[in-house]
Amino acid sequence: MQTEIFFHLKALQHLMSSYTAYPRGKSVFKNYKALDFDYVPKDLPHRDMQQKRLFTIFGPIVDSNVSQNAFITGPTGTGKTVLSKKFCMDFQDFARKGGKNVQFVLVNCRQRNTENAVMLRVLTNFKPFFPDRGFSINEMMESLRKELEKEKAHLIVVLDEVDVLLKKTKSSDIIYHFSRFNEEGIEAKKLLSLILISQKNVLEMLDSPSLSTFKRGNIVRLDKYLRDELLAILEQRIELAFHPDAVDLGVSDLIADIASELGDARYAIELLEKAGMLADEKKEGLVTPEHTRAAKAEIYSTVTESKLSDLDKNRKLILIAISRSLRKKAYTTTGDAEKMYALICEEFQEKKLGHTQFWKYLKELDNVGIIQAKKSSKGLVGTTTLISLPDIPAKVLEEKLVDMI
Ligand SMILES: Nc1ncnc2c1ncn2[C@@H]1O[C@H](COP(=O)(O)OP(=O)(O)OP(=O)(O)O)[C@@H](O)[C@H]1O
Ligand SMILES: [Mg+2]
Repeated sequence: MQTEIFFHLKALQHLMSSYTAYPRGKSVFKNYKALDFDYVPKDLPHRDMQQKRLFTIFGPIVDSNVSQNAFITGPTGTGKTVLSKKFCMDFQDFARKGGKNVQFVLVNCRQRNTENAVMLRVLTNFKPFFPDRGFSINEMMESLRKELEKEKAHLIVVLDEVDVLLKKTKSSDIIYHFSRFNEEGIEAKKLLSLILISQKNVLEMLDSPSLSTFKRGNIVRLDKYLRDELLAILEQRIELAFHPDAVDLGVSDLIADIASELGDARYAIELLEKAGMLADEKKEGLVTPEHTRAAKAEIYSTVTESKLSDLDKNRKLILIAISRSLRKKAYTTTGDAEKMYALICEEFQEKKLGHTQFWKYLKELDNVGIIQAKKSSKGLVGTTTLISLPDIPAKVLEEKLVDMI
């Protein structure tokens, strides 16, 4: 009996301690998932025209039994991926109503960056147990063809971030295979269409036979979002993800202001999510402009994030040196940055690059926009180059890079 009471007491204590350790106020979120990058909202504000354009391009698949290719391009966070998903889902419905079986597969070529991996992803959509080795690309293509003929389906293959694949494989063979997929079929059945997505103009990277299947009119360009467009996107997400009245007036305006410099919807949504989390952390039940400002200080644009992960170790070390020189000032000179770079190399026990190489990399970092270099006005000692960081706090950048190394 005594032990029983003891256990009850223990359980009660445990319950109370966990309650005091995590006292939960009401969360501001009603559906946190709606802030996920994979979430596809019912409408995409300000992408109507582009969605219609894709319908015009691919429409003939349904009524005229043809195949089509398109290329979606634009800077980061302009909705390339979400537009392609939304389009494929809607188009599949539309085709079904017209009596045509349209299937689609979206492959992220950053995650699957070999031809084999891409083909396997496409094929396992139809044959989940297709072996992951032992078959050539041609054999896999044949197997895919048989599946499509069997299911009387037309397949849209979406190759997202396709520049990564093309750069890695140094060839456009797979695009060639896909774009010629139809011609080899029995009775010239049109079984496959292709959507390529990339920030960069990958059409330049294609060989001429593959390129010839991309009509000029089939390029869909997405521009950076303007402030008011970001505002509409934010208001939609607030309604989807937050309880009514959980977001203060002015928050969406403030975020739109901050993110409009980059025109990046991902950054805007990320700021909104982070601001919500900060409100929850403080159990305030309301997201305020102050949370928004704090969110901005904590995260920086994913543009920068992906740019950073592309840098090799030498470039990262140079950037660490620059961040450290900039800890307490707005600008540093190239001379100071190079001295700091020498110290950083010692610290990380890495071989230092020569002066010319150092300069070359500085220029490159300037070109991709991670740093900003400008000539100082002429002084007694002539001009010198001043370096600053346009959109990241130096401390945050340094920590991020050190983590990466
Ligand atoms: N018009 C829009 N309406 C609603 N949400 C949008 C819109 N455009 C983009 N988003 C959202 O913004 C985020 C970024 O969009 P997306 O991933 O499609 O960008 P992207 O152009 O593919 O960028 P990247 O080149 O970096 O891959 C996603 O969460 C997406 O749902
Ligand atoms: Mg994308």
